[in-house]
Amino acid sequence: IERTLVLIKPDGVARNLSGNIIARIEAKGYTLAELKKVNASRGLLEQHYEEHVGKPFYEPLVEFMLSGPVIVAIFEGHRVIEGFRSLAGTTDPSTAAPGTIRGDFGRDWGLKVQQNLVHGSDSVESAEREIGIWFA
Ligand code: GTP
Ligand code: MG
Repeated sequence: IERTLVLIKPDGVARNLSGNIIARIEAKGYTLAELKKVNASRGLLEQHYEEHVGKPFYEPLVEFMLSGPVIVAIFEGHRVIEGFRSLAGTTDPSTAAPGTIRGDFGRDWGLKVQQNLVHGSDSVESAEREIGIWFA
């Protein structure tokens, strides 16, 4: 069975949207396999976001992810990786389609990073890598 790593980022946790977001994922038919709330360390986030090192949004992204607790979850189901990314919507919450998590709950707050509520793994390989980082 396919698995994906989902993060509810600090903006989603601070706005008390965690339950709503988890409910949407479950309602689509995916199964919650693991769930925890953590204050991520810089080292863990540097591992998680290693593909983005050197990009202009990298430092603001890591700082944002350090700004408060995150919810870390593993969801399971056939094609859950692409299914969750479809449910999340595109990266920029201003233009993410209505009906998606980012499109319904997110917007541009004029900050240096896209505060876009959730993260989802983008391939089987990254899902296994990210699950290994967050559930070591
Ligand atoms: P994740 O599920 O969070 O990985 O989102 P994604 O796969 O849609 O985006 P990507 O992996 O390319 O980027 C990771 C995160 O960096 C995004 O979710 C945003 O928070 C932030 N980000 C990505 N691209 C940009 C950008 O062009 N500008 C800014 N300010 N932030 C960005
Ligand atoms: Mg990504």
